[in-house]
Amino acid sequence: MQRYREIYERSLRDPEGFWGEAAEAIDWVRRWDRVLNADNAPFYRWFDGGQLNTCYNAVDRHVERGRGDQAAIIHDSPVTGSLRVLSYAELADEVRRFAGVLKRCGVGRGDRVIIYMPMVPEALIAMLGCARIGAIHSVVFGGFASNELAARIDDAEPRLVVTASCGIEPGRVVAYKPLLDGAIALARHKPEHCIILQRPQLRAELTAGRDLDWNEAMAAAEPADWVPVAATDPLYILYTSGTTGQPKGIVRDNGGHAVALHWTMKNIYNVDPGEVYWAASDVGWVVGHSYICYGPLLHGNTTIIYEGKPVGTPDAGAFWRVIAQHDVKVLFTAPTAFRAIKKEDPEGRLLGQYDLSRFRALFLAGERCDPDTLFWARERLGVPVIDHWWQTETGWAICADPIGIEMLPVKPGSPSVPMPGYDLHILDDEGRELGANQMGAIVIRTPLPPGCLPTLWNADERFVQAYLSRYPGYYLTGDAGHRDEDGYLFIMSRIDDVINVAGHRLSTGAIEEVLAGHPDVAECAVIGVADSLKGELPLGLVVLKAGVDRDGAVICEELVQKVRREIGPVAAFKLVAVVKRLPKTRSGKILRGTMKCIADGTEWKMPATIDDPAILDEIAETLRSLGYAGGRAAG
Ligand code: COA
Ligand code: AMP
Repeated sequence: MQRYREIYERSLRDPEGFWGEAAEAIDWVRRWDRVLNADNAPFYRWFDGGQLNTCYNAVDRHVERGRGDQAAIIHDSPVTGSLRVLSYAELADEVRRFAGVLKRCGVGRGDRVIIYMPMVPEALIAMLGCARIGAIHSVVFGGFASNELAARIDDAEPRLVVTASCGIEPGRVVAYKPLLDGAIALARHKPEHCIILQRPQLRAELTAGRDLDWNEAMAAAEPADWVPVAATDPLYILYTSGTTGQPKGIVRDNGGHAVALHWTMKNIYNVDPGEVYWAASDVGWVVGHSYICYGPLLHGNTTIIYEGKPVGTPDAGAFWRVIAQHDVKVLFTAPTAFRAIKKEDPEGRLLGQYDLSRFRALFLAGERCDPDTLFWARERLGVPVIDHWWQTETGWAICADPIGIEMLPVKPGSPSVPMPGYDLHILDDEGRELGANQMGAIVIRTPLPPGCLPTLWNADERFVQAYLSRYPGYYLTGDAGHRDEDGYLFIMSRIDDVINVAGHRLSTGAIEEVLAGHPDVAECAVIGVADSLKGELPLGLVVLKAGVDRDGAVICEELVQKVRREIGPVAAFKLVAVVKRLPKTRSGKILRGTMKCIADGTEWKMPATIDDPAILDEIAETLRSLGYAGGRAAG
């Protein structure tokens, strides 16, 4: 671990020297005055005074330096049966044109643009087009419904929304236009224009005066050159689940982001420019932002946009087919994808049909990686399988095994060790530092390294309150766990009400808000219960208002549809039951943690402050009827 340790320790001892050197890999219009400006702490600013353009660094400079003919983007789409390759020169041309479209629509530096798109190259072209002219993009995941989109429109106040006529999920075409129209009708803020990519699977009826056709707009556009922006200017906003229904707008800056992501491509993932790197995620999540779009392109890699699933498009060999066909060197996905493959093809027979001899490493993140999945993947693939841990807020790995520096011993169940700039600590409730193998809140001493969120969009106070106030001087990750004697981290649980469903981060509080909005519901609780495929699934328990005598099953079905309509299918909310009462403490706090233990079958203690212990028996009975429960009370 010698080499890793030296690099890590130096990054903490001399952050300005460390990141100043890393920044040499980026082309700057103007060099920074200070690598780190801490004058306005806790609002730290990296590369203050510097100017650059992220799109230039991700596209144009590679063309200028001889990569024009290299594939930049491979769009592999089993759901439409199509394959499209864009070279860096072609990507540059498309991005210039799209930047021109934006300018023509009146979008300028600092204006927001919402991108609500399926997995098509145009999603990346739109992101890069915004970066080119200094506009701030905010990509919204296609699996969110109108209400969620409306909440983001109201918070980001975009001038423009870019969307497509449809997305394609196995077995159904998702019409985006009605979702967009629904969101705009709901939102207080009204975007001036929408640009719509018409896909042959389903064409959308355009709204006259507001909507523009992507192809027509591109044909008429005047290509636009890139503009210098401040390193500290926002590049994008990405909304993520908080504890309430109001999502948090994570801000990413231009300078620190480009420096950090470029550094990770060789040092963590060990790919060289020109090689193919594939993140099988969605562009609507942070993994998609960092490792489908910006990381690989900043580094001169070829990136893959995969419009399909790990199974069913057409079978559990889909990932192996993509790796072999496009000569993928490194794959990054969520453990749930491998659990899905393992379930369909437990022996990994389909692997035999493909040549994976040039494939080098698999990286997993987004949720806890269970050792079984890790062993299965490692044995079948015969390459290192690396669990790494990060969050939307950080934009890149907090802990990983940096195989480009040196391959560290893998400890199954651990995402390994902290990456440069992340000064990790484990604290107890009183803020005391805990020793090896003691479980507590995982925090990072500020400043966070470049690339991490400088603040929340239009919400400096919420930023401080949500992340920095619990333990002053530290950033609260929201995860709990411990470190072993070798400094390896183990993530055990969340300390808030965020749950992780198939690698997607959801707020149980937000689902509760939707359930509570049903006219028959008096109160409710949503917990995350263990699921062998998706990691966790949301489960709702509702108490009906006095006097409601409608059939409980009908109400439950209405609740399932309500969550699907208001949050989106991605919430995977299908488990819900009516109960007479919810277990509470004497002060009225619902005992969600205890109910989760009962559902998961893990040991739990009868809370000393419980109001009426008999309620737990009723809850266990209900959970059993849903196929859950079996937990034992300790003692
Ligand atoms: N647009 C519209 N709907 C979408 C969507 C999108 N972009 N993405 C997902 N959905 C829908 C699905 O169709 C599904 O709807 P259904 O209830 O009608 O079946 C629902 O949202 C739940 O989707 P998902 O959680 O993806 O489940 P799934 O059963 O379709 O697939 C896996 C399960 C494991 C194969 C899938 O979750 C997967 O590939 N995960 C990889 C992990 C990943 O990408 N993580 C992101 C962070 S790294
Ligand atoms: P997101 O912001 O959607 O990327 O979700 C981040 C959260 O997912 C983290 O705070 C963790 O709770 C969880 N997570 C991500 N990666 C891992 C991992 N490798 N191991 C355990 N949990 C993880």
